[in-house]
Amino acid sequence: MVFQSDRVGQIPPYLFAEINKKKEAMIQTGIDVIDLGIGDPDLPTPNHIVEKLIAEMQHPLNFKYPSFIGHEEFRKSVADYYEREYKVKLDPKTEVLALIGSKEGIGHLIPALIDPGDVVLIPDPSYPVYRMATHLASGESYSMLLKEENNFEPEFDSIPKDILTRSKLMFLNYPGNPTAATVDLKHFERAVSFAKENQIPIAHDSAYNMVTFDGYKAPSILQAEGAKEIAVEFGSLSKTYNMTGWRIGYVVGNKDIIKSLAVLKSNMDTGQFTPIQLAAAHALNSDQSCVSKHNQIYKERMEAMIAGLASIGIKVDPPKGSFFIWAPVPEGFTSTEFATSVLEQTGVIITPGNAFGSGGEGYFRVSLSVPTERLYEAIDRIKQKLKIKIS
Ligand code: MLT
Repeated sequence: MVFQSDRVGQIPPYLFAEINKKKEAMIQTGIDVIDLGIGDPDLPTPNHIVEKLIAEMQHPLNFKYPSFIGHEEFRKSVADYYEREYKVKLDPKTEVLALIGSKEGIGHLIPALIDPGDVVLIPDPSYPVYRMATHLASGESYSMLLKEENNFEPEFDSIPKDILTRSKLMFLNYPGNPTAATVDLKHFERAVSFAKENQIPIAHDSAYNMVTFDGYKAPSILQAEGAKEIAVEFGSLSKTYNMTGWRIGYVVGNKDIIKSLAVLKSNMDTGQFTPIQLAAAHALNSDQSCVSKHNQIYKERMEAMIAGLASIGIKVDPPKGSFFIWAPVPEGFTSTEFATSVLEQTGVIITPGNAFGSGGEGYFRVSLSVPTERLYEAIDRIKQKLKIKIS
């Protein structure tokens, strides 16, 4: 007897949960594992945010059920943040919804918008949650292949007409996970006009919007004219303020899409703990110098890793956003073969590109969420212990 639906039986366990299992097993055998797998910042949440949480924990009223759509102060702080950062005006009552991390919101958006058999347009490679949640909602994924020669942007015009007529949702994601690709506002303008022409809602995942370098500022899709008629944007405090474990995010934009998601969510969950929402509101509205400080640290790490990879014959252009490096695997290896050899022979975890979709074959992803010394050590181990020959 198997206590599992066919749909769940058909999906693999969550990528990073599997990687964690392997990591734990290696640690048990005494191996000093260097984890460049999941994008989980090692830097602490800034103190002023932690202090605000502690203060809000002193108020007994904050222990009650939270608001279903998110605390008023949190929604207002997201609206203020959009006005300040992007000059986009949002109505906190209808155009902002609090989430228990953006992963939760993305997972729930799909069944809120599609019926069984509908198509979801999904960039390939991309965050595995888009594809798995589509499968769980009995939808059909259509892979929009992201090619390096196109700056990892989908070619909208190559999507067949019969797919377009069955499509009920399209995902976009910049700065990109796993590709680290960045775009300018023109990309979103093209996407919005294509989506309006075909009446396909867009969900833009902007989890890495504030992790940027060299003066590059990632645009919001809501800056594109008419975007609110067809698009929503998911945001997260996880990466900007090192708050992955806090589980707090938001979705903003088209009010009908937000309303459908809110109906589904209010039947499935009861929102994030109020003190966490109030501390997150404080993070968005207080001194932002912590953000540039973190980005400076990621930039140093990125430069160290890119130089290290170059020293073993793997060439990568420095990305302008996200804390990932998306690099080609050495010739003669699949993504899985390379990542497995690196793990087994050196104790360094990297993520094989095909874990993000078949479009990621031929690449691997490095997360810069360990200190620079550990990155140097990872490169040294690869140089000394990896038996396969690179370049
Ligand atoms: C990633 O590493 O791709 C993300 O941090 C994983 C996640 O959000 O679960």
